[in-house]
Amino acid sequence: MISMPKLQQEKIYIAPSILSADLTCLARQVELVQEAGADWLHIDIMDGHFVPNLSFGPALVKNLDKVVKIPQDVHLMVQEPQKFIEPFIKAGASALTIHIEARGNIRETLKQIKKAGLWCGLSIKPDTQAATLIPYLDLLDLILVMSVYPGFGGQEFLPQSQNQISQVAKLAKEHNILVEVDGGINRQTAKIATGAGAQALVAGAAIFGQTDIKKALTDIKNAALAN
Ligand code: DX5
Ligand code: ZN
Repeated sequence: MISMPKLQQEKIYIAPSILSADLTCLARQVELVQEAGADWLHIDIMDGHFVPNLSFGPALVKNLDKVVKIPQDVHLMVQEPQKFIEPFIKAGASALTIHIEARGNIRETLKQIKKAGLWCGLSIKPDTQAATLIPYLDLLDLILVMSVYPGFGGQEFLPQSQNQISQVAKLAKEHNILVEVDGGINRQTAKIATGAGAQALVAGAAIFGQTDIKKALTDIKNAALAN
């Protein structure tokens, strides 16, 4: 397991999502984003219940742990996250983010992540009020704001996300929590997200879906920094 870095205030973190990677040559695709300066690798886990899609499991994280040089930022879009915390910790996740809309005892699940020394993340869907995060702020290292309805890569950034990011950023600031945005990030929307207070950006289609993966990543990073 690679530990998450100490947070640098001025830095923008880019986390390419392998949901849009060419899985027939995943190791090479990961190398390309690492060479281009990716900060974390974003791994979307979907169970077909919390979202209408299926993706990966702990086995992929375990395999990637042998080859990646950057932290694995694991996003659990699953109905019962508590069941999967231990397997993902064992597999080598660096950060584990669960959804506030999931089932079970959210606080206990977050505590389990925190206790294991991973970065502890909580995500909200587009229609969830930012204020619902308040009872959990003391436990969080990151808040993941979904700027699309979760489930699929390649969707468009929802315009109302700008306001939600700003509200979340206000809450996060006092507790030194990093705000990450996920969904529809490209050169244009990266600026909107960082302008509203995001410090980490997930991008799938706009990086792995491009012919020149390295250039795509650099362009997004530069656009985000231009704010
Ligand atoms: C969506 C996932 C995202 C997805 C983002 O449910 O959580 O991480 O990979 O993909 P893009 O950047 O293509 O919207
Ligand atoms: Zn994600």
